[in-house]
Amino acid sequence: MYIETFGCQMNELDSELVCGQLRALGYGFTARRDDADVILYNTCSVREHAEQKVWSRLGELTERKVREPGLVVGVLGCLAERDGEALLRRMPVVDLLVGPGELDKLPGLLDNAVRTRGSMLSGDAADEHNKPRSAGLSALQGNTSRRSGTLAAAADTLEMLDLSRAVSPVEDGGPVSRSAYVRITRGCNKFCTYCVVPFTRGAEVHRPPEHIIDECKRLAQAGVIEITLLGQTVNHYRFEHGAAVTIGGVVQPQKGRSYTGGHRRDPFAGANVTTFADLMQRIHDEVPEVRRLRFVTSYPRDFGDDVLEVIRDHPRLCRYLHVPAQSGSNRLLGMMNRGYTVEEYTEFLDRARAFLDQPEIGRPLEVSGDFIIGFPTETEEDFEATMALVRKARYKNAFIFKYSPRPGTVAYDKIPDDVPEEVKRRRNSALLALQQAVSEEVAAGYVGREVDVFVTGLSIKERKRRARAVAAGGVSLTVKGRSVGEPEEDDGCGSGCSTQATHVETAQEPSSGIAQYSARTDGDMIVVFDAPEHAGLVGSIRRVRIEESSAFSLRGKLV
Ligand code: SAH
Ligand code: SF4
Ligand code: F3S
Repeated sequence: MYIETFGCQMNELDSELVCGQLRALGYGFTARRDDADVILYNTCSVREHAEQKVWSRLGELTERKVREPGLVVGVLGCLAERDGEALLRRMPVVDLLVGPGELDKLPGLLDNAVRTRGSMLSGDAADEHNKPRSAGLSALQGNTSRRSGTLAAAADTLEMLDLSRAVSPVEDGGPVSRSAYVRITRGCNKFCTYCVVPFTRGAEVHRPPEHIIDECKRLAQAGVIEITLLGQTVNHYRFEHGAAVTIGGVVQPQKGRSYTGGHRRDPFAGANVTTFADLMQRIHDEVPEVRRLRFVTSYPRDFGDDVLEVIRDHPRLCRYLHVPAQSGSNRLLGMMNRGYTVEEYTEFLDRARAFLDQPEIGRPLEVSGDFIIGFPTETEEDFEATMALVRKARYKNAFIFKYSPRPGTVAYDKIPDDVPEEVKRRRNSALLALQQAVSEEVAAGYVGREVDVFVTGLSIKERKRRARAVAAGGVSLTVKGRSVGEPEEDDGCGSGCSTQATHVETAQEPSSGIAQYSARTDGDMIVVFDAPEHAGLVGSIRRVRIEESSAFSLRGKLV
């Protein structure tokens, strides 16, 4: 079996859970698509470009499928949910579709698909035009059955998928995964007018805190020291214990009812409610082995002081916030249905910095953001307002996307995509150039400082160098494509996500000589440094003195 993941961290985590579940059922994985008899793509639909990648991957399989009638092809994730069964008609190479809200059904469908295809003779497996015939299986949530009520949430078997996460101990010197994602909230209720996520991922539901803490404990016992909590609007996490429903002894996830109205603290926080701040504090206190706790992605509105205080007062909570603004124009923010103004956004940034930006004690706050360029009706004046916000916000980095109309969204239906492509392109380059200059300045502030870094692996440069050396020796080596040390193509959400094959070999730590390593600061700045090859360096936290900087990374020396 082969699985490739597109899109955001949610998808990466989903692929990990799906792989664990399928492994437990006896399926084996390969890093080479050509060797696999089952091919799964876990897909993203956030922009058209993300979808096109999947279409071309699927197109590549048509011929092979006619030759190999037993081949099973599955599309999981947001594209499956968005396009629905139309996808099977357009791409008959696909045998099964599973939306992100139905992944718990994958093993059953897969079993069915393997049997169906196994029984197809080569003649049956293609139509008269020699196009493959699909097994035609699907599990999709559908817009009409959004898991919107407490009862629908109570029947949430997806929770079992998260609960059954296979956690294997980190092996010394072996494949390194001391860093893990933990989902705290599924779905999204915001309905920004450009965005497919509420349609593909369904309504917001919060996981019970006990499940989250238990998962963190199990990961910590297995050797994980860095955890990133995931949610589309992660800071809206809120769980009401009085209203919790238990089925078969398992507390069920709860529909999203975050507080609104500009409060800086949840007015109903207390014994019966676990707020986001409470959750962070509990993980910090109850799972001390986790030396770094982060969270993405934050929603700028109603970011409570309670959360900022908890981060300030707990040393293992990272001072890094990813808070997309999307635009610097109040007119466009309104059309996007973002629910805040630029003034409110910058007030939040100032407040966050007042609480958390303490470079003098070696703990600066770093912030990153997302922007959409060329949203319908965007004028030069709107764009200038976005440039002004980028100047003011001083992001360490920002993910900048050209607007892509998504079928099914309000913007797609109601607001024509009227900004010409070349205008989008020009504004995109101008904003990128500005952000690059800001990133350079932020990075330059680190030169001469000492920082603690979490060593994530060999740098991309080092891995490419090794891959070339191995290839020159006639053997091919696949380098795992996770972002380290260098900027990379971004195809999914704005959270530094990348297209990657999930079960590709992890580059092993080297065994002799000097290697270039990549690492991250508490504020998520990328640091590269050369060090003697040393088993155990990857996955540990080390102190580095920063000597040089660029817009994309810092370069330093181990202290
Ligand atoms: N929940 C997060 C974002 C999830 S999608 C939030 O609200 O901030 C990740 C990013 O993709 C968004 O921040 C946005 O910048 C971008 N994006 C989403 N839909 C898009 C579209 N239709 N066209 C271009 N960019 C889009
Ligand atoms: Fe939800 Fe974020 Fe999409 Fe808005 S941009 S609808 S908050 S996922
Ligand atoms: Fe879905 Fe994540 Fe893409 S939620 S649409 S995979 S950005």
